[in-house]
Amino acid sequence: MGSVSLKIGDGTARFKRATLCSSAVNVLMLFSVLTTNLFALYAFTSSPNPHPLHHSHKNISLISEQVSLILREIDSSQKKLAQMEKELLGYESIDLSRPNIANELKLFLKQHELPLGKDSRTGITEMVASVGHSCEKSVDLLSQYMNYKVNGPCPDDWSLAQKLILRGCEPLPRRRCFAKSIPKIGLYSFPISLWKNVSDRIMNWSGLGCKNVQCLIGKKLNRDCVGCFDLVNGYENQRYVKPRGKNDFLINDVLALGSGGIRIGFDLGGGSGSFAARMAEKNVTVVTATLNIDAPFSEFIAARGIFPLYLSLDHKFPFYNNLFDLVHAGSGLDVGGRPEKLEFLMFDIDRILRAGGLFWLDNFYCASDEKKMALTRLIEQFGYKKLKWVVGDKGNGSGKPEVYLSAVLQKPVRV
Ligand SMILES: *[C@@H]1O[C@H](CO)[C@@H](O)[C@H](O)[C@H]1NC(C)=O
Ligand SMILES: *[C@@H]1O[C@H](CO)[C@@H](O)[C@H](O)[C@H]1NC(C)=O
Ligand SMILES: *[C@@H]1O[C@H](CO)[C@@H](O)[C@H](O)[C@H]1NC(C)=O
Ligand SMILES: *[C@@H]1O[C@H](CO)[C@@H](O)[C@H](O)[C@H]1NC(C)=O
Ligand SMILES: *[C@@H]1O[C@H](CO)[C@@H](O)[C@H](O)[C@H]1NC(C)=O
Repeated sequence: MGSVSLKIGDGTARFKRATLCSSAVNVLMLFSVLTTNLFALYAFTSSPNPHPLHHSHKNISLISEQVSLILREIDSSQKKLAQMEKELLGYESIDLSRPNIANELKLFLKQHELPLGKDSRTGITEMVASVGHSCEKSVDLLSQYMNYKVNGPCPDDWSLAQKLILRGCEPLPRRRCFAKSIPKIGLYSFPISLWKNVSDRIMNWSGLGCKNVQCLIGKKLNRDCVGCFDLVNGYENQRYVKPRGKNDFLINDVLALGSGGIRIGFDLGGGSGSFAARMAEKNVTVVTATLNIDAPFSEFIAARGIFPLYLSLDHKFPFYNNLFDLVHAGSGLDVGGRPEKLEFLMFDIDRILRAGGLFWLDNFYCASDEKKMALTRLIEQFGYKKLKWVVGDKGNGSGKPEVYLSAVLQKPVRV
């Protein structure tokens, strides 16, 4: 007696998954919460009391108690309403109801029910757009990325996009704007294109430290790309053909290990694409995974007439299981962080490699003996056949030798 209940029936008004409730039900619930609250407020504030005798002792403290109770109930109803708004927008992992969310982002992520209801083959009831769940951590950047003029030119923001990808926001949402295109003049025909200089003018240098290929050549971009943009002078055009040491395997030797069945391959962190270029000469098609970190790798590789895949190594490889005859990786395989991170990557490589396929570990830099042991243990866990295994030191010119591991491993048939 005397207490005002604004309960909205927790038992029935739960919304676990947007997919379970249609928007119509949500609207109905929204309405019911509002009306329940209004009735309760009315009941409390309306003065005519049916039993005035029992309430004659009403005093200030009682009233203030009840007011604070009402405020608490209103507060919790508001929270429920916010939750319902999220449900109505149909997207739970990213809070689209917060302020300053670009409208394009809401539109892209809005779930669409299938017009004919549940699809019997797949069991899905609505179309859901893909966006990385880690985008939630960078919603402000994501919203900035989705802030553009529809049908207009896209902003010059590829580095913003790459920043998002490197924060795990992958895949990015699609956009409805026109990406700037650069005229690709002077492309060579295949296979001449494989080893021809690429003109500075056909790449976009915005957001990069270097503004031409000459500048890139003078830089050590990463361990797998030292002077790798110089296709004419230097060592790049001799890689895989002329060894510098016992860690350098020759392409012909490795292909011979695959006994003719090497037709498609995948190169991780493949620098400027020279591995794929050499393989192309052997009629083997290789896809090179690369981001544009400090250099226009993707455009350079494409200009050579080979296939760049713009993908971070944190993303599951977009290939079906058991496909590739060959996977090639160098020091780029060292993703850092906890040991499980490398394990996840190795399992994904194992997944896309076919039984009998080759994993070529090419001059993997072992920063410490521990690292070498950990990688060795991990590789042995997969039960690959060691066709080649070389641990070598390289003096780097100033005393301290560096340890590199090169190996060719064959995936076993597992049942
Ligand atoms: C006011 O109401 C409260 C709660 O019912 C009661 O404990 C208190 O004694 C009342 N005070 C007076 C002055 O009537
Ligand atoms: C690079 O692309 C941006 C848009 O993404 C554009 O504004 C800029 O002019 C381009 N640079 C060149 C050299 O084409
Ligand atoms: C190709 O690039 C290399 C290295 O920058 C340079 O020495 C050479 O002259 C260039 N060749 C042509 C044809 O542009
Ligand atoms: C690659 O294929 C072409 C066309 O079929 C053929 O002429 C050439 O000999 C092949 N090269 C190698 C290395 O197998
Ligand atoms: C050789 O390695 C040492 C230690 O790793 C490093 O400090 C030095 O810069 C390297 N020298 C060259 C020429 O790369």
